Amino acid sequence: MSKKQTLVIDENTEIKPSKEFSKQARVSSMAQYKRMHKESIEKPHIFWAREAKDLKWQKKWDKVLDWKAPYAEWFKGAKLNVCENAVDRHVEEGRGNKAAIIWEGEPGDKRILTYQQLQREVCRMANVLIARGVKSKDRVLIYMPMVPEATIAMLACARIGAVHSIVFGGFSSESIKDRLEDSKAVAVITADGSWRRGGVVPLKENMDEALKGNDTVKSVIVLKRCENEIKMKKGRDYWWHEETAKVPATHKAKGFSAEHPLFILYTSGSTGKPKGILHTSGGYMVGTYTTCKYIFDMKEDDVYWCTADVGWITGHSYITYGPLLNGVTQVMYEGGPNYPDWGRFWSIIEEYGVTIFYTAPTAIRAFIKAGDKFVDKYDLSSLRLLGTVGEPINPAAWAWYYEKIGGGRCPIVDTWWQTETGAAMISPLPGCTPIKPGTATLPFFGVDVAILDEDGKECKADQPGRLVIRKPWPSMLRTIYGDKKRYRDTYWSDYDGMYTAGDGARKDKKGNIYIVGRLDDVLNVSGHRLGTAEIESALVAHKAVAEAAVVGKPHDIKGQAVVCFVTLKGGVKETDKLKTELRNHIGKVIGAIAKPDEIHFAPGLPKTRSGKIMRRLLKELVATGKITGNVTTLEDTKVIDALQASIAGTA
Ligand code: WTA
Repeated sequence: MSKKQTLVIDENTEIKPSKEFSKQARVSSMAQYKRMHKESIEKPHIFWAREAKDLKWQKKWDKVLDWKAPYAEWFKGAKLNVCENAVDRHVEEGRGNKAAIIWEGEPGDKRILTYQQLQREVCRMANVLIARGVKSKDRVLIYMPMVPEATIAMLACARIGAVHSIVFGGFSSESIKDRLEDSKAVAVITADGSWRRGGVVPLKENMDEALKGNDTVKSVIVLKRCENEIKMKKGRDYWWHEETAKVPATHKAKGFSAEHPLFILYTSGSTGKPKGILHTSGGYMVGTYTTCKYIFDMKEDDVYWCTADVGWITGHSYITYGPLLNGVTQVMYEGGPNYPDWGRFWSIIEEYGVTIFYTAPTAIRAFIKAGDKFVDKYDLSSLRLLGTVGEPINPAAWAWYYEKIGGGRCPIVDTWWQTETGAAMISPLPGCTPIKPGTATLPFFGVDVAILDEDGKECKADQPGRLVIRKPWPSMLRTIYGDKKRYRDTYWSDYDGMYTAGDGARKDKKGNIYIVGRLDDVLNVSGHRLGTAEIESALVAHKAVAEAAVVGKPHDIKGQAVVCFVTLKGGVKETDKLKTELRNHIGKVIGAIAKPDEIHFAPGLPKTRSGKIMRRLLKELVATGKITGNVTTLEDTKVIDALQASIAGTA
């Protein structure tokens, strides 16, 4: 029997990289990793200057890092253009005829864009934006399907120094409206519609709704994708294909300062409305470039595929920026993983010979549930490296991914990071780090991670605590757009001069880091970040609702499910019809991704005597069906019995 067949993978399995993989990798031994990591922490100016040299700087920096906690300036004094680095540089270096994006639409249409074609398209869109009056630092909101034009739009903004802010296509009009208001966008780039599981998501219609009453947006550029009927407002709305036909396909990329804002991406926090995470140019470019180079081991002839949507940070850093900065060929796919069936991803890997594949644990669990027969039909032997992101991966899912998809030959890089960190922070390096199911293993270069207890003392091995980062890193967020105070309070106030990630974690004796999950009221549903506060505020905005509390419940496939407890206003009847109405209401206010799995009517919510909802009790209740935790501080213990009765049978 071969070694592969006898290997039973569980949480204790440790797999060392194969000799073949190590030999060709950039970091091929743990000694080399340790040496480089030490240098990156102790002498960041030397380490990062060396990495940054791979990229094109129109003017070199005067200083690699200027740090006055919590404000960092990386590559101070430098001038660069991120788009020029992701596109033009490759044309200049002879990759003009290389495929940059191999795209497949959900209905089966296909397109290949070479680096040279990408350059022409990006230049055209840059010229369109300029013609529409968009200037450096102006915000442009992008609401697009997963088509190459989404990436083109981002790069065109970067090229002219405008700040893109993408809103995921699954968010509703009201969510777009909030983001338009907060960012004061002057232009919008969208499409008529987007294909999803055979149906059309009416993007333009949603946008029209969001734009009602808006007075900052001067132009809306609309890509024709689904040919669904839409309204075009004269003097405001312009077709992408008409506008790009009017302008030249050349544009000179000007250099911007390294701290020039690149994009704002809204993400959920534990309180209030989503926060606009601001990333800047030089450091983010170096961070995404370097992580792709070392973690994904990207080489000239790789075919890389990340299944995320550009609406999330993973799509920013590991579709648009990182891979293009490395000049690789990447696959982009528009639709759902189960359209027309659960074999779609594997058919794409076979057809294009994908070598590096990056997806989320929630997708892996859904594939396992769908059954192996959808995988077995396809030849996946082109794969050489696998990655996961977004949530902890359970050992069973890891084992299936390793054996079934990776054929027992591909290392898995479990990458921990966040919208705020801009690039992967904790991950194996595939040529040297022994991998183990459930752990993101060790910090990347420049990342000084610690796990601290409440008093700020470092936790002992295996003792869980709070994940913090003790030193600035190039791709770190610079602020929350328009709210410096919230930036300091959210991330930098728990421990002096350190970034608090909001995640709980523990380290084993070898230093492998296990992410336990969020410590705050942020849910991770199918790898998507949702704030319980946002869902609660959507609920209480409904006329029937007096009060609401939202918690996460462990879910086999999604990681977490959304569970709502709702107290109705006096006289309102508790009906199933109302539950459906409330679900749809949340879909309308936030987006379909936030629709809860369960809604329970509760005569009252467990509160402390000072009126704070005790979520800890609700979390326990949804996970176990019972409340056994300390209830002595509870204002009215009778609500517990009622709650237990209301969820009986659903836990
Ligand atoms: C979680 C996604 C465990 C974590 C890139 C973090 C993970 C949040 C992992 C950020 C991982 C991300 N293992 N948990 N490999 N990667 N997370 O901003 O809780 O959408 O704080 O960024 O996802 O989610 P975000």
